[in-house]
Amino acid sequence: MNSILITGANRGIGLGLVKAFINSERNPNIIVAACRKPNEATDLQKLAENHKNINILQLEVNKFETFKDFAKNVSNIVQNNGLNLLVNNAGISHKFLRIGSLQAEPMMEEFAINCVAPLMLSKELLPLLKQAAENNKDLPICSQRAAIVNISSILGSISDNDQGGFYPYRCSKSALNAATKSLSIDLKPYNILAMCLHPGWIKTSMGGPKAPLEVDTACATIVHTISNLACGHNGGFFTFEGRELKW
Ligand SMILES: NC(=O)c1ccc[n+]([C@@H]2O[C@H](COP(=O)([O-])OP(=O)(O)OC[C@H]3O[C@@H](n4cnc5c(N)ncnc54)[C@H](OP(=O)(O)O)[C@@H]3O)[C@@H](O)[C@H]2O)c1
Repeated sequence: MNSILITGANRGIGLGLVKAFINSERNPNIIVAACRKPNEATDLQKLAENHKNINILQLEVNKFETFKDFAKNVSNIVQNNGLNLLVNNAGISHKFLRIGSLQAEPMMEEFAINCVAPLMLSKELLPLLKQAAENNKDLPICSQRAAIVNISSILGSISDNDQGGFYPYRCSKSALNAATKSLSIDLKPYNILAMCLHPGWIKTSMGGPKAPLEVDTACATIVHTISNLACGHNGGFFTFEGRELKW
């Protein structure tokens, strides 16, 4: 992979993915690590000091009006290479909620950050993804050529829901899944792959201390799975280990 972009790269799974890509066989030439407060992203900054392929850019994913300028900044970094891989990782989750305590505000906020943001960012970065797909005409549709990986969640699976609650999170991730399916159809003529990935239940501030998976090991598996995405994954919903999930 030549160039990749990860949102929410300052902590949790996003930071874990930056580290895992660096340690992978296919350490990309260019990693754009987007985060909303670069000045406070000390772990990411330390990593970037030792790995010159990491470029830190500021991005608050629900400030859609900034996306055009952000895309220009990305274009200046990747130049004629285009962008091979966009990982829409930044996300939020409010606490588990039953219907009685549900408010409209968290529904709107999670929908904006978990669904609208990945979609609008994909739209804005599309010229760079198309360029990468064109540059790699000899490859079939795959993540080495051009791909969008939307970090979803098994909690967005409607058929897997046997616990109820979690309205804002479940609905926003189900909507992200629906959007990703449309993206995969709309972008197939340009040879750009789009898929949803459930990263596993991971010990981050969102996953909490009871999560069974450690960030580093889970992210190494995610990077392996992403690196092997091919035509059969386009428009699908898969776990971090590459197992297909039901919508
Ligand atoms: N951990 C799990 O078990 C699990 C399971 C399934 C799916 N996921 C998904 O995996 C992704 C990453 O989760 P995580 O566990 O790493 O969560 P996390 O530790 O809470 O980190 C969330 C990341 O998203 C960023 N973010 C949130 N809102 C943002 C905004 N408006 N603009 C820019 N960045 C924003 C945060 O940046 P700040 O530091 O600036 O807040 C942070 O980098 C999410 O999409 C989540 O839904 C996680």
